[in-house]
Amino acid sequence: MKRKLFVPIIITLVTILVVGVAFYGVQRYVADRNFDTIDHALKSVIDLQASAVYNGYFAWTGLYDLIMEGKLAEANELAQDAKESFPLIDSLEIGQGIPPEENFVITLDGELLRIEYPIRNDDETKTAPNTFAVTVIQAQNLLDIVSPHEFRIDTVHGRKTIYGIPVSPSVPFFSLWNIAFMALLTSLIVWFILQHYFRKSDFFLDTRGLESIIYLFEQTEKVSASHSRNVAIFALFVGKKLGFKGKRLKNLYVAALLHDIGKIGVSTSIVTKTGKLDSKEFAQMKQHPVISARILRSFKEFEHLSNIVLHHHEREDGSGYPDGLKGKEIPLESKIIAVVDVFEALVGERPYRNPIHPSSAFEKMKQMPLDQRIVNVLIEHYGELGTFKPPRWVLSYSPWMFAS
Ligand SMILES: [Fe+2]
Repeated sequence: MKRKLFVPIIITLVTILVVGVAFYGVQRYVADRNFDTIDHALKSVIDLQASAVYNGYFAWTGLYDLIMEGKLAEANELAQDAKESFPLIDSLEIGQGIPPEENFVITLDGELLRIEYPIRNDDETKTAPNTFAVTVIQAQNLLDIVSPHEFRIDTVHGRKTIYGIPVSPSVPFFSLWNIAFMALLTSLIVWFILQHYFRKSDFFLDTRGLESIIYLFEQTEKVSASHSRNVAIFALFVGKKLGFKGKRLKNLYVAALLHDIGKIGVSTSIVTKTGKLDSKEFAQMKQHPVISARILRSFKEFEHLSNIVLHHHEREDGSGYPDGLKGKEIPLESKIIAVVDVFEALVGERPYRNPIHPSSAFEKMKQMPLDQRIVNVLIEHYGELGTFKPPRWVLSYSPWMFAS
């Protein structure tokens, strides 16, 4: 139980970290690109504005003359026209002080952009002494022109752009929407991973669990050692020759591995009896496919294989058990297991008799009510069995397949 919780928690934490870092990286990259863009755009807008104001008003002989005549109030009033032509300008004043040498000088005062100008005549040959003009513009208004709603002036955490204007993205990296999106993405990823993980671990555990049962079952000597494993590998071999692939092949293999598990529910004296069974004993023995099917039905991973094991003793002519099915009524997988089960029983080592040669086994099998098409496949390809390489997944949980 602890392990079941531990793994999902680790998977969730790692996913949150990966999604968070990835999301932050993308946001950061986009923000950097936006930042470069607005940095350039701001410079253009501010310089253009300052230059236009200078050339339109403060490099104007009319204003220069008023200043020189000492009519500061009149000059100020005249200059206010600039506010109408340049609506971004918040305030405009002409005051006393040292005029800048350049056409304009831009400084930042908190969130306000201060642009100072000298006052000159039209051909810029004379500068009014001890006088300068200053316009104040709210930096946010400029920002709104170059990048509406994307950035805001942030004097505390902002990144400095041109003229030291500090800006931050209007939407924080981890906004509510972003967090909701990341939570959704994380949930989806975790869900997919856990689905896969639990399916895999269920399969692994069920397989291991059942394999352990087989091992214990073999220790009870109710089947010859490794009979099930040999039957399984023969079934796999024949199944492949018949064109089985992927899941169907794996199902055949697992069903063959478990086909006789029901013998666990039959009296040991009957299962291990070397002589002929009497009718009562045989009736009991005939129950083992039914018990095998019942056991498989109790494992959700193997439920779908129960019908295959149920019919592994059916015969083509209806002489088999438990249901006396005939020909096409018998599942193909059950027929394959029936053939290789008989073959293994004939050629395998048993304490009470010597194994017979495969060629003799084949002769016997040709006379039996088995599916002869399958028998022929086995006969035809038997020579390849020694070099047959089972898939990786077979070896992973049956390493001692050919041990005996
Ligand atoms: Fe059987």
